[in-house]
Amino acid sequence: MQIRRMLTETPLARQHERVMQGRAKRKLTPIPWDAFDRARWPDAALRLALDAQQKLAMGEYLAVDLFARVASAVALHGAPIDLVAAAAAIPGDEVRHADFTLRMAALMAGKDVVVPVKKEFLTSQYSMRMTQDELDDFMIEVPAIGETLACALLKACADRATDPTVKALYANIVRDEVHHARFGWYYLAWRAPQWTQAERQRVADRMGAHVVDIERRFWKGRDAPASERKHARALGVLDSPGQRVVVRRIMEDEIVPALDAVGLGASHAWRVRRRGKA
Ligand SMILES: [Fe+2]
Ligand SMILES: [Fe+2]
Repeated sequence: MQIRRMLTETPLARQHERVMQGRAKRKLTPIPWDAFDRARWPDAALRLALDAQQKLAMGEYLAVDLFARVASAVALHGAPIDLVAAAAAIPGDEVRHADFTLRMAALMAGKDVVVPVKKEFLTSQYSMRMTQDELDDFMIEVPAIGETLACALLKACADRATDPTVKALYANIVRDEVHHARFGWYYLAWRAPQWTQAERQRVADRMGAHVVDIERRFWKGRDAPASERKHARALGVLDSPGQRVVVRRIMEDEIVPALDAVGLGASHAWRVRRRGKA
């Protein structure tokens, strides 16, 4: 293995240089934790919002592990150094998100919360040391597709939330996830031109199997009883109709065209996707 200072030919390279010169620090916007008053909210709305925070906390926490392995993999597979730097910064963001969401959950519950992590999430499909193939698959499924979807969904939560604490929490997380998503797309912009025909086909097949199932996986949001819908919304809770619109829009406006652009033919997979059941 050899190391040399090589940068991608993407906007990430410019951003990396700015960071190296100490000119690009992302500032945290403080979250007004004390402003949250659980007594203001009816039970059903609070329960849905709490469930959303707990699921988010689990996802964020597991992302610490996943992205730590990605940082290791991009370093060991010789990716340009701006990609390695971007990858190495992500676990720090994810653990901050886990902390934020656990804290939010505790405020919503009115006591400390314990978030159970299902065993199936712990036995990862990726090896401890990812192969180049696994890394390619991971980058498509998690940062590129997953984080782009997450940005759209979390932004929808931030947009609808009127509670100042919840709104600031979601806005904070979205701001970081945007960078995680871009990291995925920059990786693909660098990596895709190097694929052989056979490699591209393998990646495309796997991506297709993933994409056909996305709409169905996100079909159900969190639906409050009619009398508490307004409150749930104010706590950033995304209901099923809202979630379906967000997912379809981000898939069709951004994700599918971007995957097509790197030669993966996602629009075919999207056309034949499995539909959710109403
Ligand atoms: Fe995150
Ligand atoms: Fe993330």
